[in-house]
Amino acid sequence: MPKKLRIGVVGGGIGRHHIQAYQSLPEQFEVLAICDIDEAKARTVAETYHIPHIATNLTDLCQMDDLDVIDICTPPYLHYPQAQQALAAGKHVICEKPHVGSLQEIDELIALEAESGKRIMPIFQYRFGHGLQKLKLLLEAGIAGPAYLTTVETAWRRRPEYYAVPWRGKWETELGGVLVSLAIHAHDQMYYVLGPAKSVFARTKTLVNSIEIEDCISASLEMADGSLASLSVTTGSAAEISRHRFCFSNLTAESNTKSYLNSGDPWTFTGDTPEIQAKID
Ligand SMILES: NC(=O)c1ccc[n+]([C@@H]2O[C@H](COP(=O)([O-])OP(=O)(O)OC[C@H]3O[C@@H](n4cnc5c(N)ncnc54)[C@H](O)[C@@H]3O)[C@@H](O)[C@H]2O)c1
Repeated sequence: MPKKLRIGVVGGGIGRHHIQAYQSLPEQFEVLAICDIDEAKARTVAETYHIPHIATNLTDLCQMDDLDVIDICTPPYLHYPQAQQALAAGKHVICEKPHVGSLQEIDELIALEAESGKRIMPIFQYRFGHGLQKLKLLLEAGIAGPAYLTTVETAWRRRPEYYAVPWRGKWETELGGVLVSLAIHAHDQMYYVLGPAKSVFARTKTLVNSIEIEDCISASLEMADGSLASLSVTTGSAAEISRHRFCFSNLTAESNTKSYLNSGDPWTFTGDTPEIQAKID
């Protein structure tokens, strides 16, 4: 039986969902501490989830010898320095998206991770949806064949209240617009299936809300595997959907369109011939 990992969560917003997830796996994880600069919030989270330790700064959390993992759920501009600090303190790091704001910072974190002997794990929870996993299985079984064309739509709605939170909507604190924030999961799902892009052309605009960062994107990609992909993102869609459509030579894979659950079931897989369909089924 592997050792139970003892966790400290930093940030009591989405961090609450992380705590619920750990507590649903009590044989593997134990949440020992919650840290938030807002002490009242930290206290409420601790009381709600029966967490024994409260901290109001990361340094205190890093000094807890009994913690194995620090889970960073703070605003984006803090992820890079906090991940560095937690690694330097000898902890594994789980970190919310966007992990950092540049490739250079990712390279630096990869180097620090290697030196530390610990792991950094970014949050890409949509990868684990059962629909997307079925597509991965079909690929691994060699049934899909080469990719031709992929389309990814992230059409959500965000109003001014969403951007009233001080860190949102600004380059310095959110680190980017919908590309690094809201659509990061949908695009990660595509890279998870197809691998990296070879070249990208995109038009980005701020059309929906009065913010610094972009909120609409139309992008055209050539993937390293030679296939093409088309991505669209907006926060101005009254009808919210997320949609993936992958055309491979042997099959077309289509996600459901539930905006925040589209990597889960149901997905449809249409074979190009009855024989391929039989293999898929
Ligand atoms: N994976 C997902 O689907 C998903 C969903 C929502 C948010 N997120 C990401 O999670 C991160 C947090 O988002 P949120 O919606 O919870 O934001 P939030 O503003 O609701 O919560 C952030 C919390 O961090 C605390 N905080 C700020 N500075 C701190 C510091 N220096 N030390 C300790 N605590 C500090 C704040 O007081 C606040 O309670 C963002 O990067 C966001 O993009 C990811």
